[in-house]
Amino acid sequence: MIILGIESSCDETGIAIYKKDYGLIDHILNSQVDLHAKYGGVVPELASRDHIRLIMPLIDKVLKKNNLVIEQIDAVAYTAGPGLAGALLVGSTVAESLACARNIPAIPVHHLEGHLLAPMLEENKPSFPFLALLVSGGHSQIIVVNTIGEYEIVGDTLDDAAGEAFDKTAQLLGLGYPGGAELSKLALEGKHRFELPRPLINSNNLDFSFSGLKTAVLNLTKKQEVLDHQTKADIAYAFQESITDVLVTKTIRALEQFNQKQLIISGGVGANKQLRDKFTVKSNELGFQLFFPSLEFCTDNGAMIALAGALKYEIAQKQDYHFTIKPRWRLTET
Ligand code: KG4
Ligand code: ZN
Repeated sequence: MIILGIESSCDETGIAIYKKDYGLIDHILNSQVDLHAKYGGVVPELASRDHIRLIMPLIDKVLKKNNLVIEQIDAVAYTAGPGLAGALLVGSTVAESLACARNIPAIPVHHLEGHLLAPMLEENKPSFPFLALLVSGGHSQIIVVNTIGEYEIVGDTLDDAAGEAFDKTAQLLGLGYPGGAELSKLALEGKHRFELPRPLINSNNLDFSFSGLKTAVLNLTKKQEVLDHQTKADIAYAFQESITDVLVTKTIRALEQFNQKQLIISGGVGANKQLRDKFTVKSNELGFQLFFPSLEFCTDNGAMIALAGALKYEIAQKQDYHFTIKPRWRLTET
């Protein structure tokens, strides 16, 4: 069974072909970063228009490249939410229309479910149940993944998501958008000079709060007489130390609390090298198994949606071609 996966929830158009019982055949991605960079963030209407422009050519391209024709596709999985309404509508409309025209099932997928299952695209996969730290531009959650569709959110952000904190801090330091990767590159040149707070690190729950950290960075930048390159690098270093300490400490606590032996790190911030290094040290020290998606599957992509579609095929396929996009959609809601 061959599944076409379509991701269009934000600023990436991702298309993938996944074969059940075989794995990923191929995937293709168009990032709109250059389109939005000059505005300092994603402009929803521009995002939708670019998805419209590229979605069909990208589907054609990936099919052709793999000597496939649309008649060989057995189901279409697509991101139905959460995300930008207009952007979601493009992917959902194309997916449901293709499925309707071909009389094959359509499978709506929760974007975060895609991120959660992304480590299963790798050769070395976790098995259920496992614990997940999902850290992206919109979410910072600790989730117990019992099996497909059975997710328990045990920790959540009370305000800014981890990726959002990276992006806003990057903006304060005058870096481009999205700032996570840029900030961590700058931090490589930094050294230990400033101390920033580690919000909620000792709280008796597993929730996060990063907006205070961003304010602390703002105050620190204002206090500097000269904000030269080295000072910025030292601030980036301090920010990254602080946020990764909080993420690692609370996730390790969750592993112990829920007696889990496998941990996956997913979402765009999962690409952060320092976060990966800190978790690797802990995994060697404490003996739990650690899984990361490869870098290309940490950030948004169509492969994770096609994979989620394949894993959810039996429970989530529908053939009525009615659909509702869900710009706001909690993972535990159906
Ligand atoms: O998962 P993702 O591609 O999109 C969402 O679903 O939000 O995550 C994007 C987020 C952005 O906030 C970006 O700055 C952050 O992931 N990010 C990083 C790194 N690469 C991407 N944050 C820290 N370090 C990185 N290397
Ligand atoms: Zn995402």
